[in-house]
Amino acid sequence: MKVSKKAAQFTESVIREMTRLAAKYGAVNLAQGFPDFPCPEELKAAAAKAIREDYNQYSVTWGAPALREAISRKAKMYNKIDADPNSNIVVTCGTTEAMVSSQLAILDPGEELLVFDPHYENYAPDAIISGAKPKYFELDQENGFALDEEKLKEAFNSKTRGLVLNSPLNPTGKVFTRKELELIADLCNDYNAICFTDEIYEYILYGGTEHVSIASLPSMRDRTVTISGFSKTYSITGWRVGYVIAEAELTNAIKKVHDFVTVGAPHPLQIACADALALPESYYVQLRKDYDGKRKMLLDSLRSIGFSCVDPSGAYYIWSDFTELDSKADDLEFSKKLVEKVGVAVVPGSSFYYKSDHGRKKIRFTFSKKMETLEKACERLEKNLGK
Ligand SMILES: Cc1ncc(COP(=O)(O)O)c(C=O)c1O
Repeated sequence: MKVSKKAAQFTESVIREMTRLAAKYGAVNLAQGFPDFPCPEELKAAAAKAIREDYNQYSVTWGAPALREAISRKAKMYNKIDADPNSNIVVTCGTTEAMVSSQLAILDPGEELLVFDPHYENYAPDAIISGAKPKYFELDQENGFALDEEKLKEAFNSKTRGLVLNSPLNPTGKVFTRKELELIADLCNDYNAICFTDEIYEYILYGGTEHVSIASLPSMRDRTVTISGFSKTYSITGWRVGYVIAEAELTNAIKKVHDFVTVGAPHPLQIACADALALPESYYVQLRKDYDGKRKMLLDSLRSIGFSCVDPSGAYYIWSDFTELDSKADDLEFSKKLVEKVGVAVVPGSSFYYKSDHGRKKIRFTFSKKMETLEKACERLEKNLGK
C-alpha cells in the first residue's frame, strides 16, 4: 500500500521498540526513560480528586486556566521568562506533542531546521512531518560535546528557519553553557531563526549545574519556543501533559494546530499538574539527590565492568562506549546480545545520530529506575560481561 512520502522517510522509534523487546525477553529495561517507581502521593490524590470533582470534559483547548496560571508563575520564577497565561502558553499532550505542534505551526516546506547530533530521536521526524528539512550539526564528541563556534556559524544560512536545542541533552546529559546559548542566540538573531528548546530535564541536574533557559536571554524572548512537561520531573510519563511558551503570534499559530490535532490534554490530569507546580522546593532537592545517587551507582558499576562512560551533568542517562568489552560488534548487535542473552535492555547509540556510523560503539543506559532495578541490571552485566 502507498503511504505518504513523509511517513516513508522515518522508522518507528528505536527507544520504544527496545521496551517491547525488554518485555519479550524478560529483560531489565534500562532503555526507555520512564521511572518504575510511583509518582508523588500528592499527585495521585490530586488526579483522583479532579476526576471526582468532574473535570471530565474537554478543557479550554489550549489548557485549563489554573494550569496555565501555575505555568506562568513557574516560568517567571524558575526560567526567568515572562509568560502571559492567555497569550503565551499552550498546554499540550506531552512535550512530544508540544514539539511537533510547534514545528507544524512555524515551519514551511523548504525551510531548514538545525538539529544537533546526537539528538533525541523525535526531532527529525517532527521536522519531516512539518515539511521542513532537518539539517544535522555534530557536537564535538572528543571535547565534551562542545559547540564549535566556527562550524555552527557555517551551518546557518538563509534557509535556516530554526534550531532545536535540548538542554540537558538526551542522550549524553550535556548541559549547554551560557556562552554556548549566547552563541546560538546571536546566530538566531543574525538569521532571523526560531529556537525550539526542549527543556524537559530542566530540574534533573548534578554537581551544582544551573539550568539556563535560552528564552531568558533578552534577544531570545520573542524568538524562542520553550517546551517542557511534567513526565520526567514528577515521574508521570503516562499522563501526557506538557506545554509550550512562546511569543503571542507564534502561540496563536501553535494553539490552532494543537486544537485540530488533539483538542486538548487530559483535563483532570491538567488540574493535578497545577498542584504539582505547587510542590515545595524540597521536592526538587530530593529528586536531584535521589537521581544523583543512582547516577553514581550506575556510573561506577558500568565503569568497573569495562564501559567507558560520560558522566552526565543533567537528565538521567549514561552514554557509554563498549569497545573495550566487544571490539567487533556494532551497537545494534551489542544491544541485541544484551537484551536477549544478558537480560538488560539499552538503546543502541546510532538511533541518536543522523550519520548512524557515529553511534556504532555506543549505547545509552537510563537510571530512571528503582535502586533495586539498577542493581539487578548491574549484576546481570557483571556476570555476563565482567572481567
Ligand atoms: C528530550 C526529550 N524530550 C521529550 C521527551 C518526551 O516527553 P513527553 O513525555 O513530555 O512527551 C523525552 C522522553 O524521553 C525526551 O527525552
